[in-house]
Amino acid sequence: MDTAAVYAQFAGSQARNGGSPTYEDWALGVAGDPEVCALLDTLPEPKRQPNLLFAAARLVGAPAGGWAGVRSWLAAAWPDVEREMRTRATQTNEPRRCATLVPTLAAVDGPVALVEVGASAGLCLYPDRYSYLYTTPDGVRTRLDPDDGPSEVLLPCDIAGPVPARLPSAVTGPVPARLPSAVTGPVPARLPEVVWRAGLDLNPLDVRNPDDLAWLEALVWPEHGDRVETLRAAARVVAADPPRLVRGDLLTGVADLVAAAPAEATVVVQSSAVLYYLTAAELAEFTGTMEHLRRTRGVVWLSNEGWTVLPDVAARLPAGADPQFILARDGVPVALTDPHGRSVRLL
Ligand SMILES: C[S@@+](CC[C@H](N)C(=O)[O-])C[C@H]1O[C@@H](n2cnc3c(N)ncnc32)[C@H](O)[C@@H]1O
Repeated sequence: MDTAAVYAQFAGSQARNGGSPTYEDWALGVAGDPEVCALLDTLPEPKRQPNLLFAAARLVGAPAGGWAGVRSWLAAAWPDVEREMRTRATQTNEPRRCATLVPTLAAVDGPVALVEVGASAGLCLYPDRYSYLYTTPDGVRTRLDPDDGPSEVLLPCDIAGPVPARLPSAVTGPVPARLPSAVTGPVPARLPEVVWRAGLDLNPLDVRNPDDLAWLEALVWPEHGDRVETLRAAARVVAADPPRLVRGDLLTGVADLVAAAPAEATVVVQSSAVLYYLTAAELAEFTGTMEHLRRTRGVVWLSNEGWTVLPDVAARLPAGADPQFILARDGVPVALTDPHGRSVRLL
């Protein structure tokens, strides 16, 4: 697809559905502007993507508002924007995804050693340090707090469906086609007990570094101010007790991190909005590694990915499901989730 088509598609799908009229306008502007497309075409293909251009432009100081103003600003600012695009990558870290993870993580027989592949700055490694406000379809609101009291990070999330049944930690042998479900209501009684945490990323970010934090903020879409507030609060929580973040490729690095986890804990490997970076062959390799770790170490793999990313997972969805993201446990769908963690529907 040529660059203009990529931006037109982004405008009509991601930006419009994701609630960003600004990015919809900017993307349509780029799509209809051969000069800007020609500038983008001087970059390697993975560096031409709309999220990277728009975040880099905002980091450098693009004016808020419509494309016309940004276009005139870009005429002079392109060298700076280009430099940022060449050196940075889209690494949006969305702590709200913890709200969609918690009901399933709380059902794992703990204590838990949490390993995240594609962790970015590690904000999703702290599901036990945030507070949650779950709202069921009938309007019942349930608040969950860490054991030591309310967190400054409060994650609101719509929730529906039953709580996943508590399963033994080492599920060996064939994975059941469908996990059994409990009937106690969707909100878990308490947060998971995370006794160890570590992340792996090609380029780990450090929330204590103002430059990394500024980049994480620029990656949040302009209309999503509430997400920036949450990001800043989560960054403070994480900065107070920074995670172990290892630079490396998830294909080669995950087994070492699992081996480093305490033997008495159930290791949960979490992959969230990361596997779409992989080719089909790499995906098959990673899935094979997770299956091996499940059989040999009792590792639980929780994947939270766009519904097209893991076709074998999508194929196991109940008929009529209309997912954006699918949360799966060891390849079995357990919930449908909002990509930014605003809602979870347990299956
Ligand atoms: C979109 S971010 C998601 C971050 C986090 N999981 C979340 O849900 O908020 C994807 C992250 O995966 C990392 N990544 C991409 N491919 C990777 C690979 N092969 N190995 C390790 N990390 C990778 C990127 O650097 C980026 O930080």
